[in-house]
Amino acid sequence: MKLRQRRTNRWTGATGSEFRRKRDPAKLIGNAVAVISAVILLVLMVIRLEEQKDWTAVHSVNVAAFRTSAEAHLVDVLREQARPYVSLVAEDNGIVIGHIMFSPVSLTGHSALSIMGLGPMAVSPAHQRRGVGSALVRAGLARSQELGFGAVVVLGCPGFYPRFGFSTSDHFDIGCEYEVPADTFMVVELQTGFLRGATGTIKYHSAFGDV
Ligand SMILES: CC(C)(COP(=O)(O)OP(=O)(O)OC[C@H]1O[C@@H](n2cnc3c(N)ncnc32)[C@H](O)[C@@H]1OP(=O)(O)O)[C@@H](O)C(=O)NCCC(=O)NCCS
Repeated sequence: MKLRQRRTNRWTGATGSEFRRKRDPAKLIGNAVAVISAVILLVLMVIRLEEQKDWTAVHSVNVAAFRTSAEAHLVDVLREQARPYVSLVAEDNGIVIGHIMFSPVSLTGHSALSIMGLGPMAVSPAHQRRGVGSALVRAGLARSQELGFGAVVVLGCPGFYPRFGFSTSDHFDIGCEYEVPADTFMVVELQTGFLRGATGTIKYHSAFGDV
């Protein structure tokens, strides 16, 4: 005799009908409001090149996101010393809510290759997880490509950057000057085959060493 299995939700253990009954209307409304406000934010948000008038706000966004002034200070130093750099802000209703910076890095043995390093990047805590960071990454990669850079490296969360095409750097046989977990150092080519055959170690601007 075949036993009829009751389908259960794998997270709650509830059966289909129980699961339907257990849905909390207040939570559903809360989720809907969050989705709608995220969509409105993305529609109204502007991503643009940073201007001098943004410097104080950019500093504040970095301090708020990282809860330390180290990255904010790094941004100040890169702005002063790195050339060229890409510094973009996300603005909502005239207020800077996010920032991203790219500065040139070098690959040992391949000094002619134009490669950018992504970072720091920060989104105000109140605006995180609504797509602002993703919009900044995409805009920054496009800007770096316009400037003629062929690849971008990043040291960061392995759950976040692959969605923009980044792969772990061992895929390219490229290492990082800092001792970091292998899956946190990632690379994306902006020109297909740009890093073909290139091996070596990525060196960041010396200011990164102070963070
Ligand atoms: C990382 C950061 C810039 C992302 O900005 P964001 O606007 O929240 O990003 P988005 O909304 O576009 O994307 C959300 C994704 O970011 C990732 N993410 C966001 N905050 C994260 C955190 N604190 N830890 C790990 N991953 C995080 C998640 O993968 C998330 O995906 P999910 O929503 O599917 O779970 C922002 O969270 C931030 O400023 N964090 C503090 C500073 C920092 O860590 N900077 C990055 C250094 S590499």
